[in-house]
Amino acid sequence: MLKDDHKRAKKAFRDFEKLDAEKQADECRQLVEQTCGELQVHTTLEEELFYPAVRQALKEQDLLDEAEVEHNSAKQLIEQLQEFMQQGQLDGKFTATFTVLGEYVKHHIKEEEGELFEQCEKAGNKVDWAALGEQMKTRKAELMEELLPQMDGSSLAAELGAGAEDRA
Ligand SMILES: [Fe+2]
Ligand SMILES: [Fe+2]
Repeated sequence: MLKDDHKRAKKAFRDFEKLDAEKQADECRQLVEQTCGELQVHTTLEEELFYPAVRQALKEQDLLDEAEVEHNSAKQLIEQLQEFMQQGQLDGKFTATFTVLGEYVKHHIKEEEGELFEQCEKAGNKVDWAALGEQMKTRKAELMEELLPQMDGSSLAAELGAGAEDRA
């Protein structure tokens, strides 16, 4: 689930690069809004459930400490982007902020997938992965409703439906 989120985020930043900030301002804004919301869901999910579960199972804490610092930097940029959007300030600085967020996020994903997830595999059954997965699915559905109200009903229902099916 976390890797799927990572894939979506990386695609969003690639898509943004292809847009013309001036001629496609609406599309840019929509993409930024959606991506920021999805990143908030993802980082909250990791901070509330994934990182704490992994923290008690791993000897090395550095990776998790770094991950949390990286999340904080990303959060600051997301807040700035949301302010820009509220003020209708969709200028070069807005584009630059989203581009830098993309660089941070790509770096962070590389560390998570390359190092943290690998350590998780080594931790084996020190974590109840099935139970954690269930908790994360439930929490993700709640967070999506809270943080992505602009997401259209059908795709939200599909996400929630997929979660419910997996639980069944
Ligand atoms: Fe992640
Ligand atoms: Fe993360």
